[in-house]
Amino acid sequence: MDILDRLTAVTGPGVILPGADSPDRYHHDWTGLPAVVPLAVARPGTTAEVSAILATCHAARVPVVPQGGLTGISGGAHPVAEGIVLSLERLNGIESIDKDAGTLIAGAGVVLETAQAAAADQGLLLGIDIGSRGSCQLGGILATNAGGTAVVRYGMARDQVLGLEVVLADGTVIDGMNTMLKNNAGLDLKHLFIGSEGLLGVITRCVLRLHPLPPARTTAFVGCPDTSRIIALLGAARATLGPALSGFEVMWPSFFDFMSGATGLGSPLAGRHGAYAIIEATGFDMAETRAGLERLLGEALEDGTVEDGVIAGSLKEERALWAVRESPAEYARVLGPVIPFDVGIPIGRMAEAVTAIEAGVSALFPSARTLSYGHIGDSNLHVVVNVPEAGQNQPEKAVKACVYGITRDLGGTVSAEHGIGAVKRDYLAHSRTAEEIALMRSIKNLLDPLGILNPGKSFDEGQPA
Ligand code: LAC
Ligand code: ZN
Repeated sequence: MDILDRLTAVTGPGVILPGADSPDRYHHDWTGLPAVVPLAVARPGTTAEVSAILATCHAARVPVVPQGGLTGISGGAHPVAEGIVLSLERLNGIESIDKDAGTLIAGAGVVLETAQAAAADQGLLLGIDIGSRGSCQLGGILATNAGGTAVVRYGMARDQVLGLEVVLADGTVIDGMNTMLKNNAGLDLKHLFIGSEGLLGVITRCVLRLHPLPPARTTAFVGCPDTSRIIALLGAARATLGPALSGFEVMWPSFFDFMSGATGLGSPLAGRHGAYAIIEATGFDMAETRAGLERLLGEALEDGTVEDGVIAGSLKEERALWAVRESPAEYARVLGPVIPFDVGIPIGRMAEAVTAIEAGVSALFPSARTLSYGHIGDSNLHVVVNVPEAGQNQPEKAVKACVYGITRDLGGTVSAEHGIGAVKRDYLAHSRTAEEIALMRSIKNLLDPLGILNPGKSFDEGQPA
């Protein structure tokens, strides 16, 4: 029997699609790598089916690439031609929400926005938010330890997880569905799988912690003279708002002035500034929350930290303040293909990093567009580069060498939140020591000795996709 027949024999009909018959959407994620048709696409509906599929692939030494909502831009879910795609999208049930415990139990295939809405229905908040909330799935969010715009308040995806169910490469189901905030009984194994990009096991279910849903939210958009004033404003926002500070997004003119014009979305402010920020405060009393943000802006205008600013007066205005920040899905239309970065830079070197990266790319390719923005409260700088004359063949190697070289020299990391995937493998050693990488590979060897899980991604030495 060939592998497709064997898989169909263990799952029954309707789960295994031959690669040639599978829809194109399983053949790539958002990274822009050339589509790859896998041997098959498996769409299990239960953990038992995931286990049976993995056991079968393990016995036949067939590679398995787990997939979630396919919104990743590091190629972590990119198929391999000689392997199968394991889509978790049908594990899409929200099993329960416990208001007393503040927990949500859900399948890996639940879309983020669905989980957010289910929590909100119970007066609770899931502390994860990402622009791709309408498509990205919990399993992918956890497998990549995703970041997003709520990290400044609630931490990374990892910080929202209380328990996990994981299926190992050989089909063994690890039931770690802990629901308690405290559990120090031996090693906390879930952290091995969170952020492992599908190399150590396949996440099938999770227990996430929920927070009280703050009913009040106020959003401001400000223009500052430069990066150092933005960092001063972040410090002031933390001191003035305390835990009410729930968002602090920065856009440099290279991103904001260009994208506000190119998308036609325009700017909420009349003039141009050296750096822009969106500041969001949430709380349990509307007047108090707004007063806190007004006090912050008032003082910052007074001492010159902020040059101009506006506070949203309605939900519609609030969405408008976020519009340009949430426009990266428009890159393909307004720029063409881009080389994206999600580097982390120690905050004290952020100004230097933005200047050096924009100048460095421009010295290599004078016509290049280098757009800088990011989650500065988390030391996370996004840069996207497009070299117009290069068309579809963007000079990735040269641009990456420049950006990652500057990042390494400033003590940063090549991935703050998107993961290593298929496209940053060559740069892992910029941010991790040889001993760290060797230990990652030893753990991989223990959990997946045949190397069937997501070969060629992140710290795996196998064939690249
Ligand atoms: C963002 C994605 C690219 O922050 O991480 O827009
Ligand atoms: Zn981001």
